[in-house]
Amino acid sequence: MVKVTLTVNNVKYELDVPPTERLIDTLRYRLGLTSVKEGCGRGECGTCIVLVNGKPAHSCLNLTSRLDGAEITTLEGIAPPGKLHAIQVAFIETRGVQCGFCTPGFIMVTKALLDRNPDPDEKEIRKWLASVLCRCGSYPLYFEAVKRAAKYIREGKIYFDEREVREKYHLKVLAR
Ligand code: FES
Ligand code: FES
Repeated sequence: MVKVTLTVNNVKYELDVPPTERLIDTLRYRLGLTSVKEGCGRGECGTCIVLVNGKPAHSCLNLTSRLDGAEITTLEGIAPPGKLHAIQVAFIETRGVQCGFCTPGFIMVTKALLDRNPDPDEKEIRKWLASVLCRCGSYPLYFEAVKRAAKYIREGKIYFDEREVREKYHLKVLAR
């Protein structure tokens, strides 16, 4: 076993992990962060993308034992409790989500993009969105969602009240 210290969504964890344990398994099965989805398991689909030290990373390809001291962000950690991030709200409002399996990966890629550049042009948005695959074909609406999220962020609207958004769009909590 290897001892690692990780900061995940601003919480510090000291873990003993097998040397070959993948980050996706640590996040999903040790820490219960089920927004992190496994699609291909080999670095092609992008559904498992999280931020490692602020950069998008395939959690299916990274070994936890090699990430001692890293800061990890998953979808669960992009807004404080009771709030939704502007990117989440934009994805809800543009109604692109179909099965939703790819959505966490797209949101994390969008977060990384807008943290770097809150005013990306269309070419840049397309380039970043190309790192995740959507089998339902939601790309055009996700593209609109990124533009909408960027506008919110430029206007200083970073967090929204979760309850208000749920009531406005009649969203129910099915599972946590
Ligand atoms: S599950 Fe990691 S890239 Fe597909
Ligand atoms: S919404 Fe179903 S895979 Fe993208």
